[in-house]
Amino acid sequence: MAIVCKSAGEIEKIRRSGRILRQVLDAVTAAVAPGVSTMDLERAAEKKIRELGAKPAFKGYYDYPCVLCTSINQEVVHGIPSESRKLAEGDIVSVDCGVVLEGYYSDSALTVPVGRISEEAQKLVDVTQASLYKGIEAARAGKRLGDIGAAVQEYVESFGFSVVREFVGHGIGTKLHEDPQVPNYGTRDHGLKLREGMVLAIEPMVNAGVPGVRVLDDKWTAVTEDGRPSAHFEHSVAITKDGPVILTD
Ligand code: CO
Repeated sequence: MAIVCKSAGEIEKIRRSGRILRQVLDAVTAAVAPGVSTMDLERAAEKKIRELGAKPAFKGYYDYPCVLCTSINQEVVHGIPSESRKLAEGDIVSVDCGVVLEGYYSDSALTVPVGRISEEAQKLVDVTQASLYKGIEAARAGKRLGDIGAAVQEYVESFGFSVVREFVGHGIGTKLHEDPQVPNYGTRDHGLKLREGMVLAIEPMVNAGVPGVRVLDDKWTAVTEDGRPSAHFEHSVAITKDGPVILTD
């Protein structure tokens, strides 16, 4: 599949989609509290998406059943919202959502603390978020894909955490997942040359312990091999002549 570079007009369309997504994620974040179920978060998200005139990007994608992925603690990504899964004080919950507006997709994720969390969990969340911004900073025309991955990986590993290899970021635009794949690891000055007009979903998944993950019997939920916690932050980012522009903030 070829990489599609976007015009300024198309980037504006992704931005409009991303603005709606931001409001959805803000509503979900505000709903996070001890005792709330992940299905409550799902309902808050779906209501907001419809209210704002967009459509969910995940529901029905490869038969995924929900508009959100909600991944708690050792769950890395693709946790499926459930009525019986209640948030508890001290948890961290990664919330991932995508929307489509007038044919243009946006994709973003964040990890939210539930009440008071441990210092270790807070550090993991902070480092993961900061690693996303390291990756975004490297997303510049003339640089390479490996510069993004290396920026994320070096930062994460300097704190003794690890980056997940089995899941990666991706191009985004008129589809949720477009080429290229955007790994959160790599070698500087290696890989595909980045160009103006590329729009990338950069999404570090960071584990407190070992990088390995496995997928549960529900065929979706990815968990850490060692049961230690994981965090996830994602933005959809355009590479422009003026540098990286975040379309989902
Ligand atoms: Co994504």
